[in-house]
Amino acid sequence: MKSIKVFAPATVANVVCGFDVLGFAVDAPGDEVIMRLTEKPGVVITKIEGDGGKLPLAAEKNTVSASVQHYLNHIGCNHFGVEIELYKKMPIGSGLGSSSASTVAGLFAINSLLDNYLTPMDLVPFAMKGEELACGFGHADNVAPAVLGGFVLIRSYEPLDIIKLPVPKGLYCAIVFPDVDVPTRDARQMIRSKVLLKDAVIQWGNIAGLVSGLFMNDLDLIGRSMQDVLVEPTRSILIPDFYKLREMAHEQGAISFGISGSGPSVFAFAKDEQTAHNITNKIQQHLTGLHINSNAYVSAVNEQGPKIIG
Ligand code: HSE
Repeated sequence: MKSIKVFAPATVANVVCGFDVLGFAVDAPGDEVIMRLTEKPGVVITKIEGDGGKLPLAAEKNTVSASVQHYLNHIGCNHFGVEIELYKKMPIGSGLGSSSASTVAGLFAINSLLDNYLTPMDLVPFAMKGEELACGFGHADNVAPAVLGGFVLIRSYEPLDIIKLPVPKGLYCAIVFPDVDVPTRDARQMIRSKVLLKDAVIQWGNIAGLVSGLFMNDLDLIGRSMQDVLVEPTRSILIPDFYKLREMAHEQGAISFGISGSGPSVFAFAKDEQTAHNITNKIQQHLTGLHINSNAYVSAVNEQGPKIIG
């Protein structure tokens, strides 16, 4: 029976000011899935590598198998089965869309094996089911850019309305994952559910500024719009020396700095690759001084989304 190997990218959700409505994909890191069609019906995970034993093998509990099963139920395919090997190539609980990368790799794999039965956009709701399983809410700001590549706006959840945004030329992303524990489920529960109108005014001005900056290819407008008065003040306390890290990133030439997704990863935008490396180097040095291990990634914005690698 047919088999395929797929890579799906990590993502930076929220993009600072767009909680749950903005996200973009990066070239690295990402996860890989090998999928085989089998004669025996059912979806099974046969192997998970690189997760340190943290992820469930049980098909109904794993976001990859559960969302592939949803996909197969939806299209009415029950006369064959699927075996999945998952290769985690990125840290879990990092704020880089780890569950999303695995889920999207799985959905892209099954859809490719079935000759692209659905469009990439149609895969997003199945991937959202995986996020619901992972953290209790089916947010789309990781899975939509992981599926579609590039920058994505979730204009509305009900009904789902997803818009691809332009990717400015020459934009580099510097990411550092400080190895401290911040589960998305907890990081969502700590946010205030009510906001002040004066804060909402600041926030929607910034979201509109960021989206305008993407269309206008205006990196300075993008940078000055990436401010978050709603979520960052609360979540930043989970990240060691967050405001010091932000100051250091700007000293190195960052045009913006903030929390990636629900954290603890932080990211900065830079106008060239070398500046992005300088930013990650400084931040990692500082974290080492705090006795915190970290991983760093420098990448352009990934415009392709998932890809077949074998
Ligand atoms: N928008 C989500 C949140 C992304 O901030 O909780 C989770 O990575």
